[in-house]
Amino acid sequence: MSIIILGIESSCDDTAAAVLRDGEILSNCIASQEAHRAYGGVVPEVASRAHQENIVPVVDLALNKAGVKKEELSAIAFTQGPGLIGSLIVGVSFSKAFAMSLGIPMMAVHHLQAHVLAHFAEHPKPAFPFLCLTVSGGHTQIVLIRDFLDMEVLGRTLDDAAGEAFDKTGKLLGLDYPAGPEVDKWAQLGQPLFEFPEPKVPGLDFSFSGLKTSILYFLQDAIKENPQFITENMAGICTSVQQRIVSILLKKLRKAAQQTGIREIAISGGVSANSGLRRELEKLGREEGWNTYIPKIEYCTDNAAMIAVTGYYKFLKGEFAGQDVTASARLEW
Ligand code: KG4
Ligand code: ZN
Repeated sequence: MSIIILGIESSCDDTAAAVLRDGEILSNCIASQEAHRAYGGVVPEVASRAHQENIVPVVDLALNKAGVKKEELSAIAFTQGPGLIGSLIVGVSFSKAFAMSLGIPMMAVHHLQAHVLAHFAEHPKPAFPFLCLTVSGGHTQIVLIRDFLDMEVLGRTLDDAAGEAFDKTGKLLGLDYPAGPEVDKWAQLGQPLFEFPEPKVPGLDFSFSGLKTSILYFLQDAIKENPQFITENMAGICTSVQQRIVSILLKKLRKAAQQTGIREIAISGGVSANSGLRRELEKLGREEGWNTYIPKIEYCTDNAAMIAVTGYYKFLKGEFAGQDVTASARLEW
């Protein structure tokens, strides 16, 4: 008999649902919240209200697209954390009630482990052990994956995440939220005209807060000389910042590959949608003789397919959550 999993993701500002049958994605639906644009960032209270409105229609859509009736579901997987507590609570409460009403088990999923396992929603799949650079709006990590549910974080950011570095740079430049994709668009039009410093961080850890400060001072000085500096140099600034962020990320990834001797190398998380990171990783992979794994864009940013996939492996191992499970904004590995 088939194993059919419904995955639900609601950790930030996207309400998502996906259906997976025997490890293959049948549907992957998402309701993105536009309301936050006006505020220049995610407003937690607005996000949780929107999740409440979106969750039933998105789950319905995912089941319909998959051609699956709710009675056919084997289990429900949901994001337990980390994330915004009000957003998480909506997905967790919905999943608990739905699973109870259907009399089926549930799997509580760690959002960052799911970003890593997004690679198993498509082909080709990485072979174990592999390394994954997980770069999102809230996290930047190098993860060693020994098996589906056996992962170790080798390095992480000490302050801002890579996505925050993109978003905060974009905000300084007056670009719309979320600014990561906007910086990426501009960076495809320019040349790296400006030099931004590389942080000195030991080991496999990262730091992006110094870069943000240096961009701020650079722009303040340049605007004093020429008030039109940003509008006249948008592409050049974005290209330079993007190149620096990508070089910081790939330098540590290369170091991790050298230290572990692993040549199966993946990226995941929202920032892995970045065209510069994707291009430079492919280039570095060819130079280093790595097998590189770069997800389709829909599996880079927050999605429920990755939650369903992670839930599937938990289902196979019998790792079920009880009705006493709660959302956790700072969920540990
Ligand atoms: O994984 P994700 O969708 O949500 C979190 O779990 O945080 O990541 C969102 C982050 C945001 O910071 C967004 O600006 C960034 O990913 N992002 C990008 C691009 N697309 C999304 N950053 C740079 N270039 C992109 N193309
Ligand atoms: Zn995410």
